[in-house]
Parts: sequence; structure tokens; C-alpha cells
Amino acid sequence: MKKKKILIATSGGDCPGLNAVIRSFVKRASVCPEWEVWGSMRSFNGLLGQPQELKLLDRQSVSGIHVKGGTIIGTTKRSGPFNWPVKQADGSLAYVDRSDEMIAMCREIGFNAVINIGGDGSQAMSKRLFDKGLPVVGVPKTIDNDLGATDVTFGFQSAVDVATEALDRLVSTAESHNRILILEVMGKLSGWIALHSGIAGGAEICLIPEIPYDITKIKTFLDNRFENGKKFAVAIVAEGAMPKGGSFLGTQESELSSVKLEGAAQRFAEELRMAGIETGIRCTILGHVQRGGSPVPYDRVLASQYGVKAFEMVLEQKFGYMVSYQSPNVVAVPLGEAVSNPKLVDPNSNLVHVAKSINICFGD
Ligand code: F6P
Repeated sequence: MKKKKILIATSGGDCPGLNAVIRSFVKRASVCPEWEVWGSMRSFNGLLGQPQELKLLDRQSVSGIHVKGGTIIGTTKRSGPFNWPVKQADGSLAYVDRSDEMIAMCREIGFNAVINIGGDGSQAMSKRLFDKGLPVVGVPKTIDNDLGATDVTFGFQSAVDVATEALDRLVSTAESHNRILILEVMGKLSGWIALHSGIAGGAEICLIPEIPYDITKIKTFLDNRFENGKKFAVAIVAEGAMPKGGSFLGTQESELSSVKLEGAAQRFAEELRMAGIETGIRCTILGHVQRGGSPVPYDRVLASQYGVKAFEMVLEQKFGYMVSYQSPNVVAVPLGEAVSNPKLVDPNSNLVHVAKSINICFGD
């Protein structure tokens, strides 16, 4: 029997739960013997590279991988069909568009569907490929939880888990030494990780990009706290946090790369010192610890639902759509809807109200 083929790729930054999606997709597909699933190594590099690196994914190769962090087929943020790096004679890189070639290759090999598991940038790529005629299904992933058109992305709860544990640990040492300890977490220009772990871990201060802060308000908050006998505090700072009238801090490595956010915690520490806070101030940058390791059960369950739904969308020929969780259902939404509006924290939401009600200071 001539098999129908599906190509699956994981694109952009990794996150806990990618393997659980691959496993559930392959397991669901394996009950339909006319289908075969192939993984493209390191996003679409496996398809476009020379030699090609495509890996047949069967039940055996995905057995037990739902507990593993990372992705068994690798990923990359550095190259893609629309911006393939080509070294020039002078050693510099020029970027070429190989999307037409990629689509022709998929047709030649006989891929009847392509699954792209990725965040906002990757789903924008899925949409462009679909618009050019490739039968693509998107699966949303990112620890940042900032993708529109889905209630939640897998990886987010795992990152919140890591950040909350870090906060719990910082609280005990902050209290012993009467210090102000600042924890910087990821999230790009969204404050979801900071807000959720700030509430869960009992932070005193939570700075998120959606609510620019005023350092004088934070100073007053800390003065009151110290006067009331608590001589320590823990602050959680999203990497995209910014003061009122200011901007986020970051650097851009190359023309095509996204801004690498860094320095928010250090800037906040400096601002506190300048405002006259003398209590020992220290910063912890949690970084990629939030992206690595085994997914929490919630993310394994969500990822498993996404994998099964993605395969069923292939059966229904629902291309140009992304899997989406709209509690309690897993549905299909047009890719355009998913990439047009990033999902940010609403400063007027109930969650921010709850955080303020339990005396978390946002500095607004
Ligand atoms: O989008 C996921 C994310 O981890 C962001 O939270 C963070 O800003 C960025 O990726 C870090 O990217 P890199 O792995 O390139 O340092």
C-alpha cells in the first residue's frame, strides 16, 4: 500500500510538552495504517538541508517521550524557509527565500500535510506557507502564553512551576537576611509567567510590561512594609517590564533575530538604590531553566490533546488552521486569527485584581 505522508516539525524556541505532542500525534496516526509520519530535524532545516535529515516517527520511536523536555526532532530559531542563511564570499550572511523550493520538495516527496509546532513567529511562517499552497496545520507552543486565539499554550504551566519554585526558595533566604531579592522571568512582552508565579509564590512586587511601573510608588510600598515590621521583600520582574514613560531593555543580535530582552531586573535594582532603599538587593535571572526539563502533568495533558486534534484536522483536511484550546474544547482556529493579536495580560482583568487584593504591588 502506498502510504500517505505527514511532515512534522518543531520550530522556534523549545518548551516542555513538545515531545508529548509528537507522541500523541504519532500514536493517533498509527491506528490509521495508510498514514506515515516523518519528522524534519531542527524545524524545516531537516527538509531543506543537505543532506536531508528526515526521521520516520512510529510508535516505537515516540514511546515514553511525553516526560522528556526539549524535542526529539530538534528545533531552531535561526533559519527558516523564508530566511535561509547563505554565507557570502566575505564571510557575512545573506538571507534567501526558499519557501517555493520547500513547497516543491514537499510535493515531490509526497507529503500530504505539514504540521508546524511553534509560537507566534512560527505560526506566522505556517500562515505564509499555507497562503502559498502548502497544506499546513499549526500547533501552538510557548512558555510565554502570548499566542492569540487559544486559552493557553503548553509549556506555560511548566515555566510557572519552575518560576514559583524559584520564588519559594528566594522568599526563605530573603527573610533570613532581610534582603530584597529580585527574580527576572521570561515572557517576552507579556507578563503571564510573572503574574501567575508572582501570585503562586507570594511575591510582594510584580512588574509586567502591560503595567509600566512608577518607582516612587514602589518605594512608598516598601517603606510601609518595612515600617510594619517586614524587613524583606521578593519582587518578580518580567523580562519585558518597563518604567512609566520608559521602554523594555534588550539587544538585537542580527537584523532578522528578535530582540533579546535582558536587564529589567538590574535596572529595577538600580532604581531602588537610587530611590534610597538600602536593604541588600540581589538579582536572580532565571533564564532558560524555565524552558528546559520535564513538562508538568497539565502540559502533558494539553499537549496530548493538541497532538490528537492536529492529526484529526489532517483527516478533515482542515489546513490553514491552528489547534486551539477553548476550555473545555480543543478546536481549530484560522492561522490568521492566531497570529494577528498577541495575548497580553489585561491590567483590568480579574487576575490582576486578585493580585492587587492580596497586596501585590505593580507600581502603577
Ligand atoms: O519565546 C520563548 C522565550 O523563552 C522568551 O520567553 C524569551 O524572551 C526568548 O524565548 C529567549 O530566546 P533565546 O532562547 O533565543 O534566548
